[in-house]
Amino acid sequence: MAEKISIPRGTSDILPAESVVWQRVEEQARGTLERYGYREIRTPLFERTGLFARSMGETSDVVQKQMLNLSRTHLEDPSDPKEKEGFSLRPEGTASIVRSYIENNLDKQENLSKLYYIGAMFRGERPQKGRLRQFHQIGVEAIGPGSASPLLDAEVMALAVRILNALKLKDFELRLNTLGSVQDKESFSKTLRKMLQPHLKDLCPDCQQRVERNVFRVLDCKNKTCRATVDKLGLGDKHLSAESREYFTKVKEALELLGISYVEDPRLVRGLDYYNHTVFEITSPSLGSQDALGAGGRYNNLVRQLGGPDVDAVGFALGIERILLAMPAADNAPRPLDVFVIALKEDAQRTAFEMLDVLRRGGLRADMSYRPASVKSQMRQADKSGAPHVFILGEDEIQNGTVTVKDMREGTQIQEKQDHIGQWLVKVKERQS
Ligand code: HAM
Repeated sequence: MAEKISIPRGTSDILPAESVVWQRVEEQARGTLERYGYREIRTPLFERTGLFARSMGETSDVVQKQMLNLSRTHLEDPSDPKEKEGFSLRPEGTASIVRSYIENNLDKQENLSKLYYIGAMFRGERPQKGRLRQFHQIGVEAIGPGSASPLLDAEVMALAVRILNALKLKDFELRLNTLGSVQDKESFSKTLRKMLQPHLKDLCPDCQQRVERNVFRVLDCKNKTCRATVDKLGLGDKHLSAESREYFTKVKEALELLGISYVEDPRLVRGLDYYNHTVFEITSPSLGSQDALGAGGRYNNLVRQLGGPDVDAVGFALGIERILLAMPAADNAPRPLDVFVIALKEDAQRTAFEMLDVLRRGGLRADMSYRPASVKSQMRQADKSGAPHVFILGEDEIQNGTVTVKDMREGTQIQEKQDHIGQWLVKVKERQS
């Protein structure tokens, strides 16, 4: 027997029984997103590798360890020096959306671009529960001069919470922190590095490296001794300027106005370089070690850093697979058919096939058995399809130009003229709406 080919590790097939649930999650999310004024943007699944390195940060875990690069050099145009760096599958949406915002001059068209996306992201992770190599995000990015307001930080967080509420998720927690302005962040990283130098030996090997490369990540390390070392530093919020503190207070007040509960977490720093001011994460204890349902924050410097105008931005992304893990069991019953057509004899199949087409063009969900089968087996199929009506075409019906319409719920049946099917169809649809 030929060897079977299996799916790559860390990816999954979404079979019809699950895709019904995915569709419901996506529809629900789209509804909420559109009520908040977000419009969908679709960007390519791969981009120039440099885009991610320049946005998420050369030293971030994602860029260091998890980029999935496309190695086929024929993708590259040898006459274009920019293509030398190669391409990578997108590990997240933010960088691509900012690239597109700049490239399409959206700043010239609107003061605030409220964009959303739903799609696959790719990271070369070691797969485990809730951590995949291909996963899906529902994300938003609000970019433009009009985004410079603490009200929008609060609204973006409220939106993430409302999406989860609408999907009936419970027991999740919004954790919140501020990194301060770009200047605050810079001077804090210097101070922090100095403060940690005498304690290097108490840090885990990863954090010893992080002190130089990505010092903020020492703050959210889960290792016990690293946590104890950070506790000893007694950090507080001295590193924040008065303006940054005031901005954060306004964000929190706006959340309170909307009745969104949150927990302040001074250790929350996020692993991507582009954030400043507000950062947040939504966690759920039901998820185990990969407990973030979603995360986001403000990134006021990124558009300029990628060659665009000097405009502010804020956004988040929720992981769909993790939402599904934390969601109460959803109804995954497929939508039943409206009509199942049965041909009793092989020569009735042509009429059945033609009728099926009329029904479908008329807007009904209809199906039949394409191969001749016994009446019993076709009735079983009809039953399984959930169709409330079954059309039966036997010898008599073909001769008289009629069809037997069986009402599966009432158990009754009537004869209809085949050319009256159009009117019958209208009646059924009226009843449906
Ligand atoms: P992130 O924290 O890297 O942020 O990812 C956001 C969410 O995507 C996570 O909380 C998680 O639910 C899901 N996720 C991430 N990696 C995986 C994985 N390997 N397997 C399954 N789910 C995963 C970002 O991606 C930022 N772009 C968010 C953002 C948007 N910030 C501003 N705007």
